[in-house]
Amino acid sequence: MAIGEAGLGSARPGSQPKRLEETMRARLGRECVYVPSCRLGLFLALRHWCPPGGRVLMSPVNDDVIFFVVLAAGLRPVQAPLNPLDASIDIDAVPDEMWSSLSAVLTTNLYGNPDPAPELRARCDALGIPLFEDAAHAIGGEVGGRPVGSWGDASVFSLSKHVGAKAGGFVSVADAGLRQTLEKARDDLLAPRRTTSELVYAVRPYAETAVRGLRLRSAAWAAMRLLGLTEREGIRMPLRPQQLARAVAAAPDLMAHDSWVRVDMHDYRLESGPLRLARIGRRLDRLDEVLAACRAGTESLLSTRWARQRPDAGARPRADGVPGGGGRTGERAQPLFRVPLFVADRDAAIRALARRGIVVGYLYDPPLDDYAGAEFTDLSPAPEGARWFARHALPVDPLRARAVIDVLEESGARPAEAPDGLTRRAPAADGLPQGRPAPEGPTAGGLGPSRG
Ligand SMILES: Cc1ncc(COP(=O)(O)O)c(C=O)c1O
Repeated sequence: MAIGEAGLGSARPGSQPKRLEETMRARLGRECVYVPSCRLGLFLALRHWCPPGGRVLMSPVNDDVIFFVVLAAGLRPVQAPLNPLDASIDIDAVPDEMWSSLSAVLTTNLYGNPDPAPELRARCDALGIPLFEDAAHAIGGEVGGRPVGSWGDASVFSLSKHVGAKAGGFVSVADAGLRQTLEKARDDLLAPRRTTSELVYAVRPYAETAVRGLRLRSAAWAAMRLLGLTEREGIRMPLRPQQLARAVAAAPDLMAHDSWVRVDMHDYRLESGPLRLARIGRRLDRLDEVLAACRAGTESLLSTRWARQRPDAGARPRADGVPGGGGRTGERAQPLFRVPLFVADRDAAIRALARRGIVVGYLYDPPLDDYAGAEFTDLSPAPEGARWFARHALPVDPLRARAVIDVLEESGARPAEAPDGLTRRAPAADGLPQGRPAPEGPTAGGLGPSRG
């Protein structure tokens, strides 16, 4: 879009969020409040439902930003055991004493693979605690016959992922009566809109296209590093434990945690101006096209030998006789944001893809408890599933399915073998051999930025 198309002052920002909210309400069937980012929406939800000092069960294979949002809300993250095949919370592996210590559960729906929301809803109801769904990766997904994001007391969405707007999000709530309370809490945290930031937002896609067109991607990264504009040298951002301990002592306090929470998106609490809202609106209108393309790409990737299927996640057998799962409900594949493939030498696969200009992002390795340690989080009682997934999952953009499959074929990438003990309760359904235990510990340092 040319800047003049909307004109900085020509659109009425007051009416645009309402239109976005109505579009989302129609998709989800419940109240939605626009927020400038998913992370801000999550902070609002946690602050509304959870008194400081509470304990939140969450996934250790997750964006570190989300971990810092939980800390900023004055809450103690409790890392859940995960199913190694799709990184969903393994409900049965959570010990009873852990359940009874919780104040809330937060799902991740990693890469769009739904967590078992109906079962988590039942658990939370029995315990009298709220369920929050992080649906940042899972817009358009379904679980238990309902959209992901329609099970929690609150759910949060990011318009930076499938919608690709690089800004915006929603908090969706079961109780429509909370709308005004949440709007007020949001407005109290908003930073005032700035014309320069709107303009930077408007020209960014053109600059990115130019960089791609001129094949300048690595030069651009080097320049950004020189200018101090990248905050991640590896997959996880630097923890800075001493400063973090001081911030945690001040919590709940978003600003005390700002330098961690803003990573990858410094505008996360900036009031959205007309250019931003207009672009988000146009992209949201095209969402169904994107979801259809993601479904098709997901189907192709799930039919490769690097995919692992969760037999209990899908209902119907596939045409090739392999039970459905891992991103499927019924006959339709979920429109995954990324499809986790499992390759034995992930770093080599990442390098092979990089040589073809395909950047692998959204890696979450090591798991959050290995990253942050017991000072800042309760450790998972059964960390192996999360470690194996974090070490081996190669998140593939389904919109680039064909190109990635070609590179993996050409480079001779071998499927990773899940250790026996890990998959006993959720055996691989694709007949791949299982055996060798996964190496432990962090991986892939220095592979460049973790975001796509
Ligand atoms: C799982 C997950 N949740 C939430 C977010 C935050 O979304 P946003 O960038 O819109 O704040 C991210 C960002 O990548 C994410 O990966």
